[in-house]
Amino acid sequence: MQSQKGVTLWFTGLSGVGKTTVALEVGKRLLAKGYLVERLDGDVVREHLTRDLGFSRADRDENIRRNSFVAALLTRNGIITLCCFISPYRQAREEARRLIGSFVEIYVNAPLEVCESRDTKGLYARARAGEITEFTGVSDPYEPPEKPDIELKTDQESVSVSAEKVISFLQQHGYIDPGPVDLHIHTNFSDGQFTPAEIIKAAKDAGFGAIAITDHDTTQGIKPALEAAFKHGLEVIPGIELSALDEEKEIHILGYFIDPENIELQKVLEQVKVARRSRADVMINKLNSLGVDISSGEVRKMAGKDIIGRPHIARVMQEKGYIADLAEAFSKEYIGRGGRAYVERFKITPGQAIDLVLSAGGIPVLAHPGYLSDRTSLRESEIAQYVAMGLKGIEVYYSRHTLKQAHYYKNIALRHELLITGGTDFHGHDLQFKENIRLPYKHLQELKNHI
Ligand code: ADX
Repeated sequence: MQSQKGVTLWFTGLSGVGKTTVALEVGKRLLAKGYLVERLDGDVVREHLTRDLGFSRADRDENIRRNSFVAALLTRNGIITLCCFISPYRQAREEARRLIGSFVEIYVNAPLEVCESRDTKGLYARARAGEITEFTGVSDPYEPPEKPDIELKTDQESVSVSAEKVISFLQQHGYIDPGPVDLHIHTNFSDGQFTPAEIIKAAKDAGFGAIAITDHDTTQGIKPALEAAFKHGLEVIPGIELSALDEEKEIHILGYFIDPENIELQKVLEQVKVARRSRADVMINKLNSLGVDISSGEVRKMAGKDIIGRPHIARVMQEKGYIADLAEAFSKEYIGRGGRAYVERFKITPGQAIDLVLSAGGIPVLAHPGYLSDRTSLRESEIAQYVAMGLKGIEVYYSRHTLKQAHYYKNIALRHELLITGGTDFHGHDLQFKENIRLPYKHLQELKNHI
């Protein structure tokens, strides 16, 4: 049986403000996600459970009291209960909160004039004509919530936006699962194909609950990513992927929840950037002497944004017809490792990378230990050394790890009490995110608990 956390979503507001409309949309979206939902609505319940009640203060209080009792039973049994009542009195709502416990107050707000102009049931007109007495907003007061958990402005936002606000609240407060996460994503601020905004929209559309932006040796994509995250209602984790050299092996250290403004981190990233630039120039010079006529200006233009890498050189070589495909550039003939025009990179050590992430307030995690750039993998004894340096997690689930490797690294993580993370190393193959790693949200929750 599916286990879910019960909660009452209490929609309060004037008649005709849209409580039922939004609640129905929220209910529909929750049902589509597989949650058990029930709705208690003034207009419906008043024909059954509270049929004997009118609209005096005492009767309204009794209406809320009975419905709170039912909502408490449902909530206690794990149902997401949507209550739609004008519930104009603050005190009655506070009593409902106390009785139900797991309670979210949603103030459905729009000016009286707007509700009155809609007058879907014709009741405002009748209240103005004196045919209905004690009508909320006309001849009876409405006490707006002072600190609602959520406020919806139905005169300014669409039903869909209002419903999404409620769903996001439930996700962010752990009432419902926000959806899977992918904690290893590159943007075009390093060597990815797409902008942060394109990626975030795609991840949201593909049903992801969160993604981490982990560009190589740069934090520049984080700000635009967070802006897009806000716009699309997706949680984005600020991250980085630092390249380090352990003797001959290139090791990647992911840093989650880093402060992108951290001075120490930025200082080292700047050094890496400068070294990378001059490295590219040296390689271009070597290529020139091999008869490959490309200029650093062309390569810089190809790189566009921040970091210049061998792929950019390769693309210029291809564009100018020196090679048939990119792989040819990465051969021993040209800029493949150890090749005739190859220059070694400036590299920090894994220990330095771990320290940098820690000093930027982040969580250092070993990236893809089963798939290093020279196609070798790390063993437990090597990982143990990094753990001694302050490593906190392992990227167990990775697009290029075999099932056997995932098991192997998961066991290492368990033995060393390390966090388990996972990600695709997305560079842009498919913007539908079809092939992406879908890590259960609980792993991200564990990372957060670790901050
Ligand atoms: S509450 O005040 O006790 O919370 P409830 O939400 O159950 O009210 O019922 C409100 C609905 O009853 C309104 O949407 C409207 O259709 C109808 N209604 C009839 N008379 C009144 C009235 N005097 N004031 C408010 N709503 C009324």
